[in-house]
This record gives sequence, structure tokens and C-alpha cells, in this order.
Amino acid sequence: MKAEKAYYVCSECGEGSAQWLGRCPACGSFGTMARESREPPGRRSALSAARPLRMVELGDEAPRLRIGIPELDRVLGGGAVPGSLVLLGGEPGIGKSTLLLQAAHALSAGGARVLLVSGEESASQIASRARRIGCLHPELYLLCETDLGRVEEVVGDLEPRVVVLDSLQTVRCPEVDSAPGGVSQMRESVLRLQVLAKESGATVFLVGHVTKEGLLAGPRLVEHMVDCVLYFEGERFDSLRVLRAVKNRFGSVSEVGIFEMTDGGLREVEDPSRHFLDRRSEPVSGTAAAVVMEGRRPLVVEVQALVVPSKLPAPKRVSTGIDQRRLAIDVAVLERKGRIKLDDRDVYVGISGGLRIVEPALDLAVCAAVASSRRDRALPAGTVLVGEVSLTGEVRPVSRMEERLREASRLGFTRAVISAGSHRRARLSGMEAVEVEDVKDTLVCLGIYAQDR
Ligand code: TYD
Ligand code: MG
Repeated sequence: MKAEKAYYVCSECGEGSAQWLGRCPACGSFGTMARESREPPGRRSALSAARPLRMVELGDEAPRLRIGIPELDRVLGGGAVPGSLVLLGGEPGIGKSTLLLQAAHALSAGGARVLLVSGEESASQIASRARRIGCLHPELYLLCETDLGRVEEVVGDLEPRVVVLDSLQTVRCPEVDSAPGGVSQMRESVLRLQVLAKESGATVFLVGHVTKEGLLAGPRLVEHMVDCVLYFEGERFDSLRVLRAVKNRFGSVSEVGIFEMTDGGLREVEDPSRHFLDRRSEPVSGTAAAVVMEGRRPLVVEVQALVVPSKLPAPKRVSTGIDQRRLAIDVAVLERKGRIKLDDRDVYVGISGGLRIVEPALDLAVCAAVASSRRDRALPAGTVLVGEVSLTGEVRPVSRMEERLREASRLGFTRAVISAGSHRRARLSGMEAVEVEDVKDTLVCLGIYAQDR
């Protein structure tokens, strides 16, 4: 027998090398190359002996399997694709196991046989949770196992339409003698699961834990190997959960699903805008409403700001739910163009409901909320603000204005502060539109601009 060659694999990105290197040549991380006991498995084709096909002769892809949880089906692009691999990532405790348990139950209730494989919890733990949240069904099977070979056997016998594997970090292939959760274990497991999905025609859902840095623990490589990557996000102490597709070979990646964690498991949030608006009879200073797009769905959210005297030479700019740099820019623009003095103030900004928003369309509402808190004057009731603010203080138009304003109008808003040129669309939605050129204009029309600051 040939002596085993040394082989090194980067624990961050999965790059391999025949010699040890201090720095990974692919991702540039230092000290991440670790020795593996065997050479990489190599590229094994999931379908052996492929041959060229005439595309015109191919039928449409197999019909999708509806899961029966509309928010989840939408994020998947219309249901689960048979034979595909879906990775569900998220921080520990966010609700991945719960979501997939509920999905498994909905599927089995719809007549599809489902196999849940868990390497994380005991059978009785899972069963009692399933009983508690009403997720038991005769077509729902549970296997507590970490050996992938055994999982393959069971799938062969049981012929489920869907397999849920919780989690990728706990399964192992005994043939690969490194610890579960390591790069080569995961790569080999995913390769074998690809074959399993293709051969059995089952959709395989894989749970993957995410580390603090926001990456799947282990290699990014897994994301490249699967067909669909979903992330389940939320603040730990808030009940709101957002499911996002970050990769989808069979659909759009702009869709999101919104859930709420309750005592009885996850519940779909049917009217998210109402969920994100703090209902109060009188407007208070430091709040401003905006309409953002989450995927293709408009959402009305409330920006909350608190501006207080600072004792620090470099006052604080603290944000939750929006990008810190974005806030710093909005604050700088307000100072310079809006004559709002903030260089001796700490500024705190958050989004109600614990949502995280990256859309620049929120800028105008952030500026308005900060200015409103600084002047301690509430904005006029029934007003939403939608617009991106540039470094020069100009208010820029944003996409899908009509849909946004229709949503705001549905929730009872009557006045929209928007960029110049968006008027025609606003009229269609039946709201009063106030067009603004820049930040100063905006503050003037909100009644919080002061000549003397
Ligand atoms: P879980 O699905 O186990 O998270 P993950 O698999 O992502 O680690 O969910 C864990 C949390 O959800 C746990 O802290 C308790 C909470 N939870 C509820 O609040 N209600 C419920 O009905 C369930 C099942 C869980
Ligand atoms: Mg879990």
C-alpha cells in the first residue's frame, strides 16, 4: 500500500494544498491550513457517465413540492425542488430546528413522507417538542443518527420525499477519519448527500450553524455545493424571525419570509407592516415612518432616534438594524446641510420590531427622526418619508415608489415626503405627495428647520 500523502485544507474556505502554508493562497486567512489525513475525494459526478443532451428535447423540471407554509414556499421560489439540496443557516437557538420540524409536519400532513434526521437532540426531546407544538403525524419519521452511511440506508428503505438533516456539523462519514464538523467531513458529506438527493429524488434540507462572524461554521465551500442557501435571522430577545434566500438555483434571491416565535412554535406574520409600526395615538418626537422593500414586498417601518448631550470628545453614533456607517453619513449630512447641530450629541437610532435594513431608501426617515429628536418636535401625523440621501444632501428617487406608497396608504398614512419627480406615482396611490429636493427642504416641510440652529 502506498504511504499516505500529507494534505492540508484551509478551515475557512476549503482550499487544499500539498504542503503546509502559513497563509491560505485562496482566501488569505492566516494559520487556517490544517493537515488532513487523506487526499481530497476529488470531483465525483453525481450522475455517472453524463452525455450531451438536446435542450429542446428536455421537458420542464419536475413539479415542485409545496411545503404548505406559504412564507417558506415563497422564499424557496414556489416550493421544494425534488432532488435538490437546501442549506438552512442561522445562529444557534434562532429556530432552525423548529422551522424545519414545522415544515416536515406540514409536508406530512399534505401526504408526503418525511424523514427527520437529528444528530443534535434525542428522539424523546424532539418528539415531546413536536407533540407540544402540534407537529406529530404518522408519515413523519425520526432517525437519531450521525453516521451518513446509515442515513443513506434508511432513505433507501423508507423512500421519503423530503429528508431533513439537523445538522450538517454533526453528521460524519466513517470513511473520512477526521472530526465531525471539519472541512473534509463536511465536503464529503455534502457530496454524498448530493448523490443521495439525485438518486432518491428527495429534497434534502441541511441545517448549518452560523458563527458570530456571520459565516457558516466551517467552509463557505458548502454554500457553493448546494442548490439553495437560506438564512434564518433575528434578534435573540425579539420574537421576530426573517428567512432570506441568499442563493437559489431555482428562484429569486430577493424573497423574504417573516415569522414570529411564539410558545406554540413559529407563526407566519401575515401583515408585517402592522407588526413593525408602533401604534400610538399621538406622534412623538424622534420617530419617523418609512417604506422599505424586503424582497418584493413593501414594509412600513418606524425609525426611532434618540439624541442626547454627549460628554465624549467623539460623540457616539449607535445604530441597531441599520448600518453604522450609513448613520454616520446621515448625521454628517444633517449637520452640514440641515443646520442641525450634532457634534456635541450622542445619536442612537433603531428600527422598531428588530428588523435589519440595508436599503438606502431609509435615509430620509433616519434624517427626519434624528432631527425630530434633536429639536424635540414630533413630525406631522400620518407622514411617511421615502428617499435616499446623497452626500451632497440631495434626496434621490428610489425604485417601486408606487408599491411603497400604496402600502403606506393602506395603513392609514396620508402624506408622503418623497424626492422631486416621484409625484405622478404618488398621486396614483391616493396620498398627498410633498416633493423635496434636499435635506433642508425636507426639514422645512416637516416644520423642524431652524435658520439659527
Ligand atoms: P430551535 O429551533 O431549537 O433553534 P436552532 O435549531 O436554530 O438552534 O429553537 C430554539 C429556541 O426557540 C429556544 O430558545 C426556544 C424557542 N422556542 C420557542 O420559543 N417556542 C417554541 O415553540 C419552540 C419549539 C422553541
Ligand atoms: Mg437546532
